[in-house]
Amino acid sequence: MKDLMKKLREQAVEAIHEAQDVETLESIRVKYLGKKGEMTSVLKKMGSLSAEERPAMGKLANEIKSEIEEELAQSRRTLEERMLQRRLESEAVDVTIPGSRIAIGHEHPMYSVLDKLKDIFVGMGFEILEGPEVELADYNFTKLNTPENHPAREWTDTFYFTEDSNILLRTQTSPMQIRAMEEKPLPIRMISPGRVYRKDEVDATHSPMFHQIEGMVIDKGVTMGDLKATLNLVVKQIYGENTVTRFRPHHFPFTEPSCELDIRCHKCGGKGCPTCKGEGWIELLGAGMVHPKVLRNCGIDPDVYSGWAFGMGLERLALGEYKINDLRLIYENDKRFLEQF
Ligand code: DAH
Repeated sequence: MKDLMKKLREQAVEAIHEAQDVETLESIRVKYLGKKGEMTSVLKKMGSLSAEERPAMGKLANEIKSEIEEELAQSRRTLEERMLQRRLESEAVDVTIPGSRIAIGHEHPMYSVLDKLKDIFVGMGFEILEGPEVELADYNFTKLNTPENHPAREWTDTFYFTEDSNILLRTQTSPMQIRAMEEKPLPIRMISPGRVYRKDEVDATHSPMFHQIEGMVIDKGVTMGDLKATLNLVVKQIYGENTVTRFRPHHFPFTEPSCELDIRCHKCGGKGCPTCKGEGWIELLGAGMVHPKVLRNCGIDPDVYSGWAFGMGLERLALGEYKINDLRLIYENDKRFLEQF
């Protein structure tokens, strides 16, 4: 019996020393000292001992029990200390590590171009108007002298909201000409930038949504000379004093006469290069004298007042200005792209 108890003590102490957590310690306690534990079942056999042997055995049993208990308590303290230490280490805050930077956005190249244009026009006394992207067909087309049978009104080109094709996503910023003429006192000098929508598939040069800037002057005695002088001034402020421009005849339903403005390629000086697609010239905008019918549609007497207008794509301007070769980059808002400008 004595040997058995000593063996149990050795086993228990060894197990306690090997235990790596308090749960294991607890199961060791149950195994050796619990009600159905090993020591208890040995002690139950005391009854079979002689009266002389019993006290010595009892004493030894108590010694061993308290020894195991002492070992358990000691191990528990060590393990708990170690656990606390580990937690302190894993949850420690290192105040010397540099903080993580807050990422700040970046001005969009197209908006840099727009801001520049706004500054130039505001400097010349133009006001900036904002108009609705959901527009009436009347304003987007009819009042702009673009009647029902005009190809630009095809449902394959335009996003309509209603069966009767009365409400649509504006295909151009030109309806702002009408809104300005209907709402503003004369004379008018205005620009109006914003989003426009057409049924185009996305590729390197097309997008179903893009941006335009519209401009218009209505006053007494306004001529094509004013149009040319003003637009030449704007172009020179953007592209430099020595920029060469050319006005080509064109057709728009809402202007008469109409023209397109090209600049001589600033990359190759007109010889032809990839930037101007070998043309030597870069098309910049459409413009013209506001059609007398359009003036009349807005209640303005074309015998007293005249005006000029222009419309320009903003993306194309930014692509040209910053030599960007894919329109999609303009919309992706990838900071690695934006931060280059
Ligand atoms: N709205 C025309 C377009 O989207 C551009 C344009 C041409 C606007 C001539 C004008 C203009 O104001 O006078 O193609």
